[in-house]
Amino acid sequence: MVVRNKITIKEFQKMKDEGEKITMISAYTFPIARILDEVGIDSILVGDSLGMTVLGYENTLEVTVEDIIRHSQAVSRGSKRSLIIGDMPFLSFGVSIKETTINAGRLVKEGRCEAVKLEGGRERIEDVKAIKAIGIPVLGHIGLTPTYINMFGGFKVQGKEEAAAKRLIEDAKMLEEAGIFGVVLESIPWKLAKEISENLSIPTIGIGAGEFCDGQVLVVDDLIGLTPILKPKFVKKYSNVQEVIRKSVQEYNKEVKEGVFPSEDQRYD
Ligand code: KIV
Repeated sequence: MVVRNKITIKEFQKMKDEGEKITMISAYTFPIARILDEVGIDSILVGDSLGMTVLGYENTLEVTVEDIIRHSQAVSRGSKRSLIIGDMPFLSFGVSIKETTINAGRLVKEGRCEAVKLEGGRERIEDVKAIKAIGIPVLGHIGLTPTYINMFGGFKVQGKEEAAAKRLIEDAKMLEEAGIFGVVLESIPWKLAKEISENLSIPTIGIGAGEFCDGQVLVVDDLIGLTPILKPKFVKKYSNVQEVIRKSVQEYNKEVKEGVFPSEDQRYD
C-alpha cells in the first residue's frame, strides 16, 4: 500500500489512475475523526446522514447548513490527513445558484471543509460550475440521493430499469464534464456502477453499489454497529459497539446502585 500524506482531490485522482481503492467514512465527531485519521482513512464525509445517526430524525431533510458546519468543525479538529468533505443538506442548494454558492462557501469558511458533496444529476450542472468557480471542489452524488426521498417513495435501489440506468450513466458523464472531482454512487446495481466507473476518468465512490467502484463509503455508526435501526443489505457490521455501550452502562448502573462504584481506587485522599 502506498503511504500518502495529506489527501487532497489530486490524491483522489492519483488513486483512481493507479488503481488504488479510496476509503471514505461518514463521521461527525472529534474523537471518531481522530481514529479515522490515525488509521489512514482517505476521506471523512460530514454527511447529512448525521440527521438520522446523531440527531434521531427519520430522514435527512431537517439537517441544516449550521448542523454540517458544527460537525465539520469538530471533525477538522480531529483530522490532519483525511480529505474533509461537507455535505450540502436539503434546501442549501436548488433555490438559487447564489444561495448554493454561499452555502458551499460557508461549509469551507466556517466549517473548515476542503470540498463539498452535492446530490443530483444533470439538474445540478450549473451549481457545480458555480461552486467550482469560487475554488471549492465538488463531489457529486447520484443514485439513491436521500434529499430526494419523497420523490423516490422511500430508500429504494435506483437505476434498475433500462431508462433509469441510461439516465444515471448520462448524469455521471455530464457531472464529470461540469467539473466534479468524484462521484458517490448510492444503492444502484453493481453492473451499472461498474459501467459508470469504467466510463469516467474521475473516481467513483460506492455505497451499496458493489465492488467495482474506485472507492467505498460507509456511515461510521453502521460499520461499528451503533445504528439502532435495521441495517441495509450493503452494510457490513465490523463490530457491535451498541452492545459494548449497553453492557458498560448496565454494569455502571448496577455498581452504583450496589455501592461498588466508586471504590477506594477512584477516590481522593
Ligand atoms: O450523508 C451521508 O453520509 C452520505 C453518504 C452515505 C454517501 O451521503
